[in-house]
Amino acid sequence: MPTALITGATAGIGAAFARRLASDGFDLVLLARDKVRLENTARELHETYAVRTEVLVADLATDEGLAAAEDRCRAGLDLLVNNAGFGNKGLWLDVPLADELALLRVHCEAVLRLTHAVLPGMLERGRGGVINVSSMSAYAVRGTYGAGKAWVIKFSQGVQHDLARRPGADRVRVMALAPGFVRTEFHERAGMDTSGIPDFLWLDADEVAATALRDLRRGVPVSIPGAQYKALAGLSRLVPARVTERIGSRTGRSYD
Ligand SMILES: NC(=O)c1ccc[n+]([C@@H]2O[C@H](COP(=O)([O-])OP(=O)(O)OC[C@H]3O[C@@H](n4cnc5c(N)ncnc54)[C@H](OP(=O)(O)O)[C@@H]3O)[C@@H](O)[C@H]2O)c1
Repeated sequence: MPTALITGATAGIGAAFARRLASDGFDLVLLARDKVRLENTARELHETYAVRTEVLVADLATDEGLAAAEDRCRAGLDLLVNNAGFGNKGLWLDVPLADELALLRVHCEAVLRLTHAVLPGMLERGRGGVINVSSMSAYAVRGTYGAGKAWVIKFSQGVQHDLARRPGADRVRVMALAPGFVRTEFHERAGMDTSGIPDFLWLDADEVAATALRDLRRGVPVSIPGAQYKALAGLSRLVPARVTERIGSRTGRSYD
């Protein structure tokens, strides 16, 4: 059975990946901080889909958490989904520096280190995939969050280009996933008021995960789920940058 490790597997997009991959027959390594929630998720997935589930309690904003996750990646995986993430509450300078640094650790350092740890084994076996969860915020101007998510896209593209220069790496893929607004626990946890976001902009987490896995199989470098967001991404190339930057930096960014 192939094995996938999903970071942030207990809620939202990560939980959707876990359900989808389990239904596709993957054994799972589920990573997050909340042990009880991880164990409940693992049991439910095992009982529903008859796959093996392993839990890894780790905080990816800490040295110990990052080292434990790297060790599991080095032990061998068929798929890594770097999904764990969160938003900080507030505009730049209102957010404590320690929280911004923790965000960069989880969104960037963890993505870099786990990708670095997992790829040698995948190259040795000649197959494997890495999905790095970015965001449509990468295309907007949206504080440290958007800047980090832009790095995730450029990083994933860079790694994929370098892989293409290695013989025997054509079945190893690294893809960025850039969803728009998805109904998960993210916004409530970040204290964001989402009442002004129109219905048509909301995506379903299960559809996001299904689209990402299909795009990974097809070799798409950056997966953008949803026709509305594909259209917006195209439109943003035609509209002056100052307009898209202003809209992008404000939409969904009022805090309770
Ligand atoms: N929802 C959206 O609109 C949206 C849009 C674009 C991109 N994204 C991105 O999608 C990813 C998943 O977000 P989501 O919306 O599914 O959020 P969510 O529902 O809040 O789930 C976040 C998951 O990440 C885990 N997590 C958070 N901090 C962690 C840490 N320090 N170490 C390990 N695990 C941690 C959480 O579990 P514990 O709390 O137990 O650790 C949870 O399992 C994030 O990278 C986010 O930036 C979300």
